[in-house]
Amino acid sequence: MLEVSAVDKFFGGFQALKQINLQVTEGEFRGLIGPNGSGKTTIFNVISGVYKPSAGKIKFLGKDITEHTPDKICHAGITRSFQIPRPFKEMTVVENVTLGALFGKGNAASAKEDPSSEARRWLEFVGLRVDENTMPGELTAGNLRRLELARALATHPRLLLADEVLSGLNQEEITQASMVLKKIREELKITIIWVEHIMRALMNLVDRVTVLDYGQIIAEGTPEEVSRNPKVIEAYLGEEETSSHA
Ligand SMILES: Nc1ncnc2c1ncn2[C@@H]1O[C@H](COP(=O)(O)OP(=O)(O)O)[C@@H](O)[C@H]1O
Ligand SMILES: [Mg+2]
Repeated sequence: MLEVSAVDKFFGGFQALKQINLQVTEGEFRGLIGPNGSGKTTIFNVISGVYKPSAGKIKFLGKDITEHTPDKICHAGITRSFQIPRPFKEMTVVENVTLGALFGKGNAASAKEDPSSEARRWLEFVGLRVDENTMPGELTAGNLRRLELARALATHPRLLLADEVLSGLNQEEITQASMVLKKIREELKITIIWVEHIMRALMNLVDRVTVLDYGQIIAEGTPEEVSRNPKVIEAYLGEEETSSHA
């Protein structure tokens, strides 16, 4: 479904991504991990069209999307949720999700449904119960994540790029947000690439894990394979000592 081939990304003289090759099949739940600054968000930025890769190619559902703009990529079926939630603060929670529904690719079924009732359906799906007038500023961190996911789902993605959806959450919220991702995968059959720092949660849910270090893929495999890979252990031990590569 997604084929990233030999992608490089430079920021000035700094190479953030080095020859990234990544293949994700339809229906897969893929984890993407790596120390701080290893290039995880940059991969999402090049897939979603925020940055053009400096070299290489990205194909989605058989089409070359390397040169596409972010809105075109969203219409093609790729949506992301951001590491730091970015709701429109002046709009109600329901309006935020409605915007996703209006912006999304809009298949025949959703075109028939009123966008704001569709928005309520997605809010219910992620387990966020709010009044008509609730503003994003009133939500807890856990519920802001639910909003972010509802807004992403309203665009009808085939592929969801989820960037650290658990960061800043307490233990109970971590469990709940993980369950929402599981539900997205199981009930909606949406392919997910999940970048997460909280490894235990990620390793429990994903089928395969790709590990980045200094902009390069250093390992890929099942959670069991990856967690006993010496290169991976070394990358994370290094991180504990220095706290970050960035
Ligand atoms: N727009 C940018 N301009 C310059 N450097 C950037 C930019 N975005 C990311 N970087 C750098 O690229 C590296 C990877 O960043 P990022 O992909 O955000 O890492 P991660 O998400 O794995 O923590 C970091 O060293 C970061 O400083
Ligand atoms: Mg990041």
